[in-house]
Amino acid sequence: MIIKTVKLTNFRNHTSYKLECKDETSLILGENGCGKTSVLEAIYILTRGKSFRATDPEIIKNNTEFYRIELEYVSGEKIIATYDGKMKNFLILDKKTRRLPKKNKYPVVLFLPSDLNLLSHSPSRRRDYFDRIFSEFDETYASNLSKYEKALKQRNELLKKDSLTEDTLFSWNIMLSKYGTDLYNQRITYIEEINSKLTTTYQSIAKNQDEINIFYKTEAKNLTNEQYLKKIEQNFKKDSYLGHTTFGVHRDDYIFEFNHKPANGSASRGESRSIILALKFIEADLLTQKLHLKPVILLDDVFSELDETRRHCLVKNFKNNQVIITSVERNTF
Ligand SMILES: Nc1ncnc2c1ncn2[C@@H]1O[C@H](COP(=O)(O)OP(=O)(O)O)[C@@H](O)[C@H]1O
Ligand SMILES: [Mg+2]
Repeated sequence: MIIKTVKLTNFRNHTSYKLECKDETSLILGENGCGKTSVLEAIYILTRGKSFRATDPEIIKNNTEFYRIELEYVSGEKIIATYDGKMKNFLILDKKTRRLPKKNKYPVVLFLPSDLNLLSHSPSRRRDYFDRIFSEFDETYASNLSKYEKALKQRNELLKKDSLTEDTLFSWNIMLSKYGTDLYNQRITYIEEINSKLTTTYQSIAKNQDEINIFYKTEAKNLTNEQYLKKIEQNFKKDSYLGHTTFGVHRDDYIFEFNHKPANGSASRGESRSIILALKFIEADLLTQKLHLKPVILLDDVFSELDETRRHCLVKNFKNNQVIITSVERNTF
């Protein structure tokens, strides 16, 4: 689907703002702090259901009582989200829901400046990054992840209590081993899919023969539910001393490899950027393939971070998608 207009009321620094989108490429230009990323944030909420960077109390314009954002597709479909300081609602065809229904979600490839440093970020940032991508094309991944995170939180809270026995943790251990093995299997499958395209996509950008691979680093490799459960149980003493769960897929990492060595440290800045570009192209491909929908591409201020060749690659790769770009400089275009 193609986005036609986006309207923002009391959203971040915007009192009232309307963006008319082009079918192909739209450009949002302006100084730092004028509210460009906020427009992409509104689009993201209306297509994916929640913000990529904050919660509603942070988003509602300071000293106002509500925000309202509205997105209209060229097809006429309208999605409205409101937040009154307490509750967020989505309004679609006069029907109110607390969450954006699955059938009203639309795939998005979001490219933030911070993504360019994904290789050197912390493991948790990399996990979040891939969790977001996998959740976008697989609802069961999102649901496994949410159940895993809830169980982990509960277990960690119990681990902080003084009078704790092993039995108290049993049901949480069972849940962690079930959803943990499911998440492991899904992550391995999707990373393999990405890997099968990564080197060729990278080479088409970098025009050389370097090989790129993502290594999924985990202690939960190929475990059955029972083996996974045993590993959690074996760590009971350690976990209760430390007050958190030390074994599980919440500790995993994704290591980018450049010619079979860790890329963070061996790939140059330019090479790292080409790797990320390749990753974004593959993300868009996977979404198109799996959902049979062409994702909307949101490029937040990344052009100024890329050289001429990589900018050209980015534009060429997404020439058949609707693209919305923010930038400080006009002369980049
Ligand atoms: N809840 C809020 N109410 C009012 N202003 C806000 C709120 N949250 C953020 N801002 C301000 O909105 C401005 C826009 O932020 P942002 O969209 O990130 O701008 P840009 O991407 O153009 O640099 C920033 O100056 C920020 O301080
Ligand atoms: Mg910004």
